[in-house]
Amino acid sequence: MFFTHTVLVVLTMLVTTLALSEGSPAAPLIDRDDTTTASSAFVYTTDSGNITFALTAVKSNGDIFFHMEAPAGNSWVAVGTGDKMDGSLMFLAYTSANKKGVTLSPRLCGNHVEPTWDPEIDCELVTGNGITNGVITYNNSEIYVVNAQCKNITGLAREKIDFGNTQQKFIFAVGPGDHTLESDDKGAGIRRHDEYGVFQMDMTKATVQDSDGVTVPTGKAATENSNTQIVGSPTQDNDRTGVLHATAMCGAFVIIFPMGVVMLRVLEKVMFHASMQALGVLVSIVGVAIGLYLSMMYNHSKHINSAHQILGLTLLFFLFVQLSLGWFHHRLYKKTLRPTLMGKIHRYAGPVILALGVANGFLGFSFADSSRSNIPYALAVLAIGLVVVGLVFLKQRQKKRRAAALGGFDAGGSSEYAGHGGAPMIPGSGHATPYDPSRSDVALGHLGAPPAYDDRFVTPRPMV
Ligand code: HEM
Ligand code: HEM
Repeated sequence: MFFTHTVLVVLTMLVTTLALSEGSPAAPLIDRDDTTTASSAFVYTTDSGNITFALTAVKSNGDIFFHMEAPAGNSWVAVGTGDKMDGSLMFLAYTSANKKGVTLSPRLCGNHVEPTWDPEIDCELVTGNGITNGVITYNNSEIYVVNAQCKNITGLAREKIDFGNTQQKFIFAVGPGDHTLESDDKGAGIRRHDEYGVFQMDMTKATVQDSDGVTVPTGKAATENSNTQIVGSPTQDNDRTGVLHATAMCGAFVIIFPMGVVMLRVLEKVMFHASMQALGVLVSIVGVAIGLYLSMMYNHSKHINSAHQILGLTLLFFLFVQLSLGWFHHRLYKKTLRPTLMGKIHRYAGPVILALGVANGFLGFSFADSSRSNIPYALAVLAIGLVVVGLVFLKQRQKKRRAAALGGFDAGGSSEYAGHGGAPMIPGSGHATPYDPSRSDVALGHLGAPPAYDDRFVTPRPMV
């Protein structure tokens, strides 16, 4: 009795060891025996490897067993029911947090938006009997291998599977390779696809009556095209919405607005400054509109409640305030030739808005899971920042020297445009000083010829 028991235990251990070694990542899938009775398989070859979806369906309970493969260079792979995203039930997979396994996430989808994980959908990875799941190396490439059972799925989505349909439509897609997604969270955010397409499957060839002994398709049934056909040709998505948004917003805050500063502080052309900043605001409006469109695509952004979006919208509001302050100040200044409170606020709020806009770029890249772009962005910000600060500094030094050469008359630090800070004025006269080295017709609003030279002693007005 004891002997028989020991032999049984040893035999069981041997069988288990063999089964496990057969299922190790190094074992080529193609060598496994075909164990399923009925199946259909779709295989689509891309430059980086095959996208495969093989299926066995069970008529009596509405369960499906599937085997899915795709090049792991893509951040995710998905197959969905129907011929369009809207109403589809999707089986989505991506790398797990430990980088070796896969996370299977059944999701429901609206029109052209990120699908949403539904915890009610009962899908589980199938393991055992040599069936493995994970990111495995096969023919020197890393591939996703997903074997799963999803229970009673026929009525779950608007795009239903009909087990009697010889031309049942399915969609497939792969995620962008330049995004990294390693997560055990079934609701993890995914970025819009690199490529998508439609295929049809003969479900009558993939359906068995009941589930006795049924498992996922294996061997040739899992890896060779059978009873399926591609519909049309797959589409390369080439989505540039994020890039457009980033280019407009970072372009405005890192290039256009700083150029506007140079127009005023270095070239001393107030109307060029105003036009440049108005252009910046226009580009920002377009950028925010694209940002709002982008927001609607993703689950993490559709409620417009992230720090990046709230700060961005707040900054857009203050850009309008800033533009109006600048404009009304300038009009008033032309009449009174006196500094105004609006001008003062405009002057100090400008750099703060600019700095926050630049900072929001960093938040944006992190928000879009593109944190690696923060490094080139930081370098660009640093380079442009140094050029702008350098030019302004050189201009100040030049002005100070010129003022000193003209008898110690201080040009007023950085307040060359009187309207913003208080360039020298004849006290109480409301007129510009007789000789103002920083005077520009544009800056002073086309005042015509300066007043005649006046040799009265004047004390420069202190900066306000
Ligand atoms: C973040 C997630 C996703 C977003 C934002 C998204 C967005 C979009 C957009 C905007 C289009 C229209 C493209 C055009 O007409 O130029 C589209 C089409 C399509 N997508 Fe997605 N998609 C996502 C995920 C998926 C997934 C997971 C699948 C997987 C099966 C998929 C499959 C398709 C297919 C087959 C089409 C063409 C059919 C149709 O218009 O619905 N998409 N998607
Ligand atoms: C100062 C203003 C802003 C700047 C500098 C800015 C910049 C950026 C940048 C650099 C990205 C990364 C793009 C990528 O890598 O694909 C981004 C992404 C994004 N931004 Fe903005 N942005 C601003 C305002 C806004 C506003 C007002 C909204 C919407 C209300 C918005 C919505 C988004 C969304 C939805 C994404 C993509 C998130 C994703 O891919 O999941 N942004 N932004």
